[in-house]
Amino acid sequence: MQISSEMIKALNEQISHEAFSANAYIAIGSWCERIGYDGSAKFFFEQAAEEKDHMLKFIHYLNNAGYEAVIPAIEKPPGSFQSLEAAFQFGLESERKVTKEIYELVDIAAKEKDYSTYSFLQWFVTEQTEEETLFQTILQKFELLGRDDKLAIYQIDQNLSAIRSQVSAAPK
Ligand code: FEO
Repeated sequence: MQISSEMIKALNEQISHEAFSANAYIAIGSWCERIGYDGSAKFFFEQAAEEKDHMLKFIHYLNNAGYEAVIPAIEKPPGSFQSLEAAFQFGLESERKVTKEIYELVDIAAKEKDYSTYSFLQWFVTEQTEEETLFQTILQKFELLGRDDKLAIYQIDQNLSAIRSQVSAAPK
């Protein structure tokens, strides 16, 4: 399988973006754990594991195609947040950024008629839609239940796994 040098460079950059996302979610999970938001800590640690899987998908794709996957150094992510809502807002912004990056990869693949990479990327297109929906759904709860109400925030924190399964079960 032939992959252009521009596409290889872009796929390797995406390994770096996914690695940063994984690390950023570990940092948020750690902050949540420290503050006592146990449901959110679990949520973000699981989210970090998903990001690591995304990174590995890019690594396997490049290596199996006969090219070198470059394992990057990772920039330090933010370590604290103004509020739990701000932490989820960071997550949503981060997912939107990744969606844009994935679309750029799809654009390159389409431009180059690289149908193999184009097909490989479709899973990520679907995944990003799901991830943005997940973060938006959680942020809506702060709006609906009360972003300054400690009991409401506690309930949101406790209900995170239910929100995750509700979004996963939604028709795509
Ligand atoms: Fe792998 Fe959620 O971006």
